[in-house]
Amino acid sequence: RVVGQPLPHESAALHVTGRALYTEDLGYRMPGLLHAHPVQAPHAHAVVTRLDPSPALAVPGVVRVLTAADVPGTNDAGAKGDEPLFPDEVMFHGQSVCWVLAETPEAARLGALAVEVAYEVLAAVVTLEEAIEAGSFQGGAPRLERGDVENGLAHAAHVFSGVTTSAGQEHFYLETHCSIANVDESGQVFLQSSTQHPSETQDIVAHVLGRATHAVTVQCLRMGGGFGGKEMQPHGFAAVAALGAVLTGRPVRVRLTRGQDMTMTGKRHGFHTRWRVAFDDEGHLLALEATLTSDGGWSLDLSEPVMARALCHVDNAYWIPNVRVDGRIARTNKTSQTAFRGFGGPQGMLVIEDILGRCAPLLGIDPLSLRQRNFYREGQSTPYGQVVRHAERIVTCWEHVLSTADVARRLEDVAQYNATQEHSRRAIAVTPVKFGIAFNFTAFNQAGALVHVYKDGSVLVNHGGTEMGQGLHTKMLQIAATALDVPLDLVRLAPTRTDKVPNTSATAASSGADLNGGAVLDACVQIRERLRAVQAAHEAPLPWADLVAAAYAERVQLWAAGFYRTEGLHWDSAAMQGSPFKYFSYGVAAAEVEVDGFTGSHRVLRVDVVHDVGDSLSPLIDLGQVEGAFVQGAGWLTLEDLRWDESHGPSRGRLATNTASTYKLPSFSEMPEEFTVTLLERAHEDGAVHGSKAVGEPPLMLAFSVREALRQAAAAFGPPGVSVGLAAPATPEAVFWAVEHARGGN
Ligand code: MTE
Ligand code: MOS
Repeated sequence: RVVGQPLPHESAALHVTGRALYTEDLGYRMPGLLHAHPVQAPHAHAVVTRLDPSPALAVPGVVRVLTAADVPGTNDAGAKGDEPLFPDEVMFHGQSVCWVLAETPEAARLGALAVEVAYEVLAAVVTLEEAIEAGSFQGGAPRLERGDVENGLAHAAHVFSGVTTSAGQEHFYLETHCSIANVDESGQVFLQSSTQHPSETQDIVAHVLGRATHAVTVQCLRMGGGFGGKEMQPHGFAAVAALGAVLTGRPVRVRLTRGQDMTMTGKRHGFHTRWRVAFDDEGHLLALEATLTSDGGWSLDLSEPVMARALCHVDNAYWIPNVRVDGRIARTNKTSQTAFRGFGGPQGMLVIEDILGRCAPLLGIDPLSLRQRNFYREGQSTPYGQVVRHAERIVTCWEHVLSTADVARRLEDVAQYNATQEHSRRAIAVTPVKFGIAFNFTAFNQAGALVHVYKDGSVLVNHGGTEMGQGLHTKMLQIAATALDVPLDLVRLAPTRTDKVPNTSATAASSGADLNGGAVLDACVQIRERLRAVQAAHEAPLPWADLVAAAYAERVQLWAAGFYRTEGLHWDSAAMQGSPFKYFSYGVAAAEVEVDGFTGSHRVLRVDVVHDVGDSLSPLIDLGQVEGAFVQGAGWLTLEDLRWDESHGPSRGRLATNTASTYKLPSFSEMPEEFTVTLLERAHEDGAVHGSKAVGEPPLMLAFSVREALRQAAAAFGPPGVSVGLAAPATPEAVFWAVEHARGGN
């Protein structure tokens, strides 16, 4: 059985030897390829009063300048109709107003410099706080409510209030955005794109071109990382490439430089949350009232579903009887913030973890114990009405971590260390994760596959999911090989293409393996059943190749289309009630940190994780996903610090952290010094493919353990019982200020 075996990623050898091809590489093989370069606006908010491309056309090598006048269809690249591809009004610093096509990247760059654009500068809203003050909002304002919050707050033994903020995050996929378009003799557009959502890229390109969907085919070979940043953001770049190809008849490549990618594409939403919380005398949560405001940037993009997921995760793993949480999306003159691993879940869960971390000292309860006593119990339901099935797994993971990581003894060591050190402090924090799996929007929970068995017995699998490094294709190969009972090397995976499997959902919400795995399995089972009938007519059991040959000779169909839809989901998005998730993923992490009191700099000494991936389809892949997600979460919470120019000078709204030298990502030196990840055993999930669970996003939120440990270590510099607020990201500077506050006793 190939499913469940710890196999390396199917492209691991190609990745590490540099032989794996990415979209950009495919262009080098195309004669006549044109390169596109954007003209980026130098204002956060402005009207374009004049745009003269003619000086660019005088630059040697420049072939054409694309402007709004060239768009045959709709001049919009968003799914909500609020993202003009060639805008009259600039909405953020760095937005492209037109694109230059040239024979070389350098000629395109020089051409873009030559385009003359005049602007009338308008007032810009840059920070989330400014937007809140100015009442600058967009989209819906959902409310999630259960029980009687006023009553809960009025009669509680303890009521606390506060504000919690969290910053955005740059995706920093290794491969920047890239699309290459080609037009054939009949005008068909073939697009290779680094996209998590080929079908939506196809829809939007067709829309911009004013063509039917069948005139556009999108292929994604693989991405060098997506992390949500290629769920909706690729569409406009693909549309520019397609438009250029249609107008020039030549292949056109749009490939962003790192600087363009950072200044033009959306990031994780920063959030601002104002909250009131009530506890009883034993520290049980009684009521939570909160208003979550996200920084949506200039357009809606995925801000509404991101907010829905944030609201559906403010409870994290905790039972809160009375809840009222409101969501608002601010409109600011920044990039349009978008999906990022966790999709609002992390921002929602941060609120309750921040509350518990801050309130534990105020309640006089140890944070470990405060978290534990508020866990969901089997049978209880979330504020939106979904029963928390397998809630006992939270406790199972929790106890597993406490015992295997030897937390009780190590807490004594930490106390000992802190009592003897003058200038540094250590702390251990343990935090849980509960994360809902499935798209909130029920219709997206469907997938297709197309499996071919050729006459020689070799197998080709097409499915609707995209490979971004997460190992989806590896899992699909394992599922197909197991279902057809053939060796893995007989099965090959084709690049994702919209003409093979249509109407696909984004590879997102961690559901790629659940959905596409279901579809691949469905196709394989159809083929297997047909082959079984062929076998039944023969006396001796036929080896695979002979069986396939016999089936062909007998004119039995050797290929099948598979389909899967997740059963049992329902969601009323207006009432914010229902059972939107197929199941919950669980995990627990214990992190130990050491903080230097002079500088606030810190080390993550040890991390222990127990995570629930059901019966793992591919344990090595899952292990890598847990580790990678954890480190990406720790980067968001402790290191990565997006800064926009908030001054009122000429560069207002410019992204100041627009390079790898100014935006600090986790690297080897920030990895936990000891890092142990264990997958929960005997964790079969009924109704999911081979009993497995999604893995891509949930472990990111295990990194709350690092932030809570930093808070506790900072508090250990002060008097006992001090409650410490901590910025997110808890950079060394932020930790330093937390230490200072703790020393001051407040
Ligand atoms: N892992 C790698 N290596 N690269 C990525 O871009 N994206 C993450 C996660 N793991 C990502 C990754 C995100 S945001 C999601 S939603 C899932 O993978 C998507 O893939 P899946 O549904 O197949 O798990
Ligand atoms: Mo992941 S944020 O759902 O692409």
